[in-house]
Amino acid sequence: MSVAKKEYKRVTVKSLVDMKKNGEKISMLTAYDYTMAKIVDGAGTDVILVGDSASNVMAGHETTLPITLDQMIYHASSVVRAIHRSLVVVDLPFGSYQSDPKEALRSAIRIMKESGGHAVKMEGGKEVKESIKRILNAGIPVMGHLGLTPQSIYKFGTYTVRAKEDQEALQLKEDALMLEKAGCFAIVLEKIPAKLAQEVAQSVSIPVIGIGAGNGVDGQVLVTHDMIGMTHEFNPRFLRRYMNLYEDMTNAITQYGNDVKSGDFPSDKEQY
Ligand code: KIV
Repeated sequence: MSVAKKEYKRVTVKSLVDMKKNGEKISMLTAYDYTMAKIVDGAGTDVILVGDSASNVMAGHETTLPITLDQMIYHASSVVRAIHRSLVVVDLPFGSYQSDPKEALRSAIRIMKESGGHAVKMEGGKEVKESIKRILNAGIPVMGHLGLTPQSIYKFGTYTVRAKEDQEALQLKEDALMLEKAGCFAIVLEKIPAKLAQEVAQSVSIPVIGIGAGNGVDGQVLVTHDMIGMTHEFNPRFLRRYMNLYEDMTNAITQYGNDVKSGDFPSDKEQY
C-alpha cells in the first residue's frame, strides 16, 4: 500500500519537524552497513539510525555497552556512503558522553567529522542536559532517547516496560520537556505505555518517535534485522515482522550446500 506524503528530496532535521506539524508520520529504521543502508534509503525511509544495537546485531554482544566510538564511526561511515535521501542519526555509544560535557562534545565532533552522519542520539534526561547543550552549541543536532535506555540495563536489571509507575512517568514527562527546551530536534521513546507516549508527543512540538510506545506518537523506529526476520530469537510484542529472512536464508544456504555437494552447481551455463 502506498501512503500519500509530501516529497522531501533530502530529509533534514527541519523536515522532521515539518512532518510532525503536517501530521505525516516519520519512518525510521536502523542500518549499520552500506548494503543495508542502500536498501533502507532507497525504500524511502525518513531516518536511518546507526544504532548502538549494532553491538548486539552485528557483533553478538549481550548488551549495547561494549561497542566503541571507533566502531560506531566505522558503521556510520559505511551507512553514509550509501544514502541519498534519509537523515542519518548516529548513536553516541556508552562511555563516550557520560563522564563530562567536554568529552561528550569531543565524541559528537568525531562522529560528525569522521563518519559524515547528520546528527547524534544520546540516552538520558536531566543527567545529560549539559552535554546536550554543549553539543548543540557546536551546531550538531541531537536526538534524545527516554524510557527504556539500554545503555543503563545494569541499573534497570531488565528490559521490561518502563515508566509504568507515576513517579517515573512524571520524570519522563519532565525530561521530554527539558530535551525540547534544550534544543533537541526529536526524541525516541522506547518501551513505555502507549498512553504516556501519546501524552508526551502532544506536550512537545518536536517529533516523538516510538519503539514499543504505541501509535499515538509521531513516528516509529524498529531494528531492521528484527523487522525483516533475520533475527528470530527476539520476539517482543511491539515487533512486527515483515519477512522471515532467517528461514528464507537458511533454506537458500542449505540448498546451495546441497547443490555444491551433488555437483549440480555450477551448471554449464554458470561457467566460462
Ligand atoms: O540502538 C538502537 O537501535 C536504538 C533503537 C532501538 C531506538 O536505539
